[in-house]
Amino acid sequence: MSSRFAVFVALVAGLTLSTLHPFTQSSRLGSLSPVCLGFLLGLLVAETPIASRLQEPLGLTSRHPDRVGLDILHSQGSLEGETAKSELDQRVTYGLQHAFLNLEVTGWWFNMGLWDKDRSMRFQDACKALVEKVTSQIGIQHDSHILDVGFGCGDQDIYMAQLYQPARITGITIEPIQHHAAQELVKRTRTPGTEIQLYVADASNLPEFLESTPSVFGTSKVTAAATATGSRQFTHVISIDSAYHYNTRAQFLHNASRVLAPNTGRIAMADMILAKPAPTSGFGRKIFETIFSAVEVPVVNMKTMEAYKQDLMDAGFVDIEIECVEDQVFSGLAAYIENQTGRLGGLVKPGVNWSYWGLCKGLRWLDRSKWLHFVIVKARNGPRLS
Ligand SMILES: C[S@@+](CC[C@H](N)C(=O)[O-])C[C@H]1O[C@@H](n2cnc3c(N)ncnc32)[C@H](O)[C@@H]1O
Ligand SMILES: *[C@@H]1O[C@H](CO)[C@@H](O)[C@H](O)[C@H]1NC(C)=O
Ligand SMILES: *[C@@H]1O[C@H](CO)[C@@H](O)[C@H](O)[C@H]1NC(C)=O
Ligand SMILES: *[C@@H]1O[C@H](CO)[C@@H](O)[C@H](O)[C@H]1NC(C)=O
Repeated sequence: MSSRFAVFVALVAGLTLSTLHPFTQSSRLGSLSPVCLGFLLGLLVAETPIASRLQEPLGLTSRHPDRVGLDILHSQGSLEGETAKSELDQRVTYGLQHAFLNLEVTGWWFNMGLWDKDRSMRFQDACKALVEKVTSQIGIQHDSHILDVGFGCGDQDIYMAQLYQPARITGITIEPIQHHAAQELVKRTRTPGTEIQLYVADASNLPEFLESTPSVFGTSKVTAAATATGSRQFTHVISIDSAYHYNTRAQFLHNASRVLAPNTGRIAMADMILAKPAPTSGFGRKIFETIFSAVEVPVVNMKTMEAYKQDLMDAGFVDIEIECVEDQVFSGLAAYIENQTGRLGGLVKPGVNWSYWGLCKGLRWLDRSKWLHFVIVKARNGPRLS
C-alpha cells in the first residue's frame, strides 16, 4: 500500500468517525458531506488504478514516461499517433524516456512576444522582436546609459548589448530568483563595450534605489569613458512587458522622468492598457478587480488611452508616440503555448499545466474581445520640472 493511499484511507476513516461523533452530528444526511468530500480528495491524491482514471483528465497525474517522447515525435508530424499509443504499454528497456537528455534550454525569456502571422516563429525570436520593437529608433548609442526596469532573467540586457553596445545597462527586478538567473547569464556572456549591472529593487521606489546604490553612477572599471550625460542621469529608461505591475505606474513614470536627462532622455515601454472603459460598479467591477489582483496588476494601472497619455504628460514627457500591437501579441502567444503544451506539456509538473491552459484561454479571449491594448510607447523627457 503506497503512503498516499494510506493517507487516503486514514482521511476517509477519520471523516467517517467524525460523522458518528454525537457533538458534530446535526442531521445524518448533512454529516455525510464531509465523507463524500474526503472520499473525493482521497481519490485525487491516491495511487490506485481507479484514482488515476479520475486524475488523468484533471491533469493531476504524471503521464506515461514515454508519452512525452511520443508528443515530441508527433509534433514533427512523423508518426501515426494511434498505432504508437498501443505500443506504449509494451515492455521496453529504453523507450523514449531519454528525451530530456536531448533537450536544451538556451534562454529564460518570458515576455508576450511580437508574433508573425505565419505562426512558425520560435518563442525566443518573438521575445527578441518585441525588444527590438521597443528599443529601435530611440537613439541608443555607444555612450548611452540605460535603466532597464523589470529585466526578467536578463536575456533582454544581453540582447540590447549585442544590438547597440551602449556603455552601460543598469537593470532592476523585483524578483530575487530572476536576478540570480540573470547574474549567471551575464557572468558567462561576454558583452564587449557594455557593462551590465543588475539589482533587486522595486520600480515603484526608483529614487530610494538610486539613493542607496551609488555604484549605479560610479566610475566603471570596464567602461572608464563617461556616459553621454556624464552625470547622475540615464539616457534611456526601458520597461518591457512589466510596467502594468508597478504600484503605481503613474508614480514610476513621474520618478523615471526625474532620473532621465532633461530634454534628451527617452523612455520606451511595452505595456498594457484598457481598450474599453472598465466597469465602475456592481458585479462587473468585482470581477474586474478580482482578475487584475489575481495577476498582480494594481487596478489603478488599468487606464484607457486618454488617461494613460495624461499620466505620461503629467510625469513630464513630450513627443509621446503610442502604437497598439495587440493583434501581433495575444493570439500569437496563445498559439505558441498550445503548440508547446502539445509537444512538451508532459514535462510540466502535473497540475501546473492548468495555469498555462488558463493563460491560453485568457489570451484567446483578449484577442476576441479587444478589451486590452498592448502598446509600444516612446516618449522624450521634457525640460526639468521643479
Ligand atoms: C512578463 S515579465 C517580462 C520580463 C522581461 N522583460 C522579458 O522580456 O523577459 C514581467 C517582469 O516584471 C518584473 N516586475 C514586476 N513588478 C516589478 C516591480 N515593481 N519592479 C521591478 N520589476 C517588476 C517581474 O519580476 C517580471 O520579471
Ligand atoms: C495536463 O497534463 C495532463 C497529463 O499530461 C493531461 O492529461 C491534461 O490534459 C493536461 N491538462 C491541460 C489543461 O493541458
Ligand atoms: C507546432 O509548431 C510546429 C512548427 O511550427 C508545427 O510543425 C507543428 O505542427 C505544431 N504542433 C502542434 C501540436 O500544434
Ligand atoms: C516619485 O513619485 C512620487 C509620486 O508621483 C512623488 O511624490 C515623489 O516626489 C517622486 N520622487 C522623486 C525623487 O521624483
